Amino acid sequence: MNISTEMLHIRVDDHGAQPAVTPLYQCSAFSADSAFFYSRKANPNVSELEQVVAALEGSEHALAYATGMSALYMVLELLKPGDSLVINRLIYGCSYKLFQRYAARLGVQLSILDLSCAQGLAALPAKVDMVIFETPTNPFLKDIDIQAVSTAVKSINPQALIVVDNTWATPLFQKPLAWGADISLYSATKYFSGHSDVMGGLVMVNDQALYQRLLEGRFYSGSILTPHSAWLLRRSMQTFELRMERHGKTTVQMLNYLKDLPYIERVYYPHIDGKQLTGYGGIVFVDIRRDLVPVYKTFTRSLRWFGTGTGMACVTSMVAQPFSGSHASMTDEEKALMGIGQGLVRLCFGLEALEDLQDDLLQAFQTAEQATRQ
Ligand SMILES: Cc1ncc(COP(=O)(O)O)c(C=O)c1O
Repeated sequence: MNISTEMLHIRVDDHGAQPAVTPLYQCSAFSADSAFFYSRKANPNVSELEQVVAALEGSEHALAYATGMSALYMVLELLKPGDSLVINRLIYGCSYKLFQRYAARLGVQLSILDLSCAQGLAALPAKVDMVIFETPTNPFLKDIDIQAVSTAVKSINPQALIVVDNTWATPLFQKPLAWGADISLYSATKYFSGHSDVMGGLVMVNDQALYQRLLEGRFYSGSILTPHSAWLLRRSMQTFELRMERHGKTTVQMLNYLKDLPYIERVYYPHIDGKQLTGYGGIVFVDIRRDLVPVYKTFTRSLRWFGTGTGMACVTSMVAQPFSGSHASMTDEEKALMGIGQGLVRLCFGLEALEDLQDDLLQAFQTAEQATRQ
């Protein structure tokens, strides 16, 4: 035997190791006898994460993807040319662009409706195969009655798929499948991760046949989450409830403060009905006073504790302008149709002390106001 051959095959027998947490299975391939087979199909870290999030959601199945966008893309892949897709008017900018581009390329009929009201539901097209919406919506945090949408759509086509992007409510506060959705979807990059250090997407379903179709699509597209990202997300899940509790508490205490701040004209917060939506995390929208819009940059540059990156829903606080950030890929006309102007600001409250965040906002607004006089 040659030492170079032996070196290639030396392995520690880890069966007796009994690690406190599941180690990272940073491997692409498994033995031919293993159920995991190949990490494009399944991997122990991905499977463990899927079991954890399915338990939290109360769903039969969970599938993990590389990003939230890839999860959305793979759901769209359930459509075929000639199908009809309905989306809600208020939606994340990149999702909007994805649906628009996908529908145009695949010959899918795209309808954009306000699904939060009876008039919107009455305008559903005669043929509908999939409906996708967020609730609460990004932007403006409008609530959509999942059961009402599901009932209206299924009365037209019982086979139509209801897809809820539940990223902002999280499964801790809203369980779309229990209200008639077929698919509950997440950007795990947000609260699931919570630390701005990993990207991921999640799709939860109950139906076995739908699960198999999605599983196959993920295997052939290679859109599965990496083992390392799964390991990080699994670790983040250990503090998910604690983090959300703190985000939510800070935000509720912030609401009154924001309403009384003379620099803010309006605060947007979702309606927590205690049924469909039982709580909420730490993202709100505000309309800043018109005269402060030209000095928005002075405001953000003066902030000490709020970051301005695209990250949100994480342990540190963030401020962003949807017009130039989350919805920047849309045209000005499209943004106007959503009601997104330059005075709309998104605030994400992290885990910092409440007083520090309040003081920081106050001093930054004061500095911005002074800048309007210069
Ligand atoms: C509601 C919502 N859905 C989906 C996505 C896309 O997720 P990702 O950035 O993980 O691809 C985002 C990203 O901001 C989002 O806000």
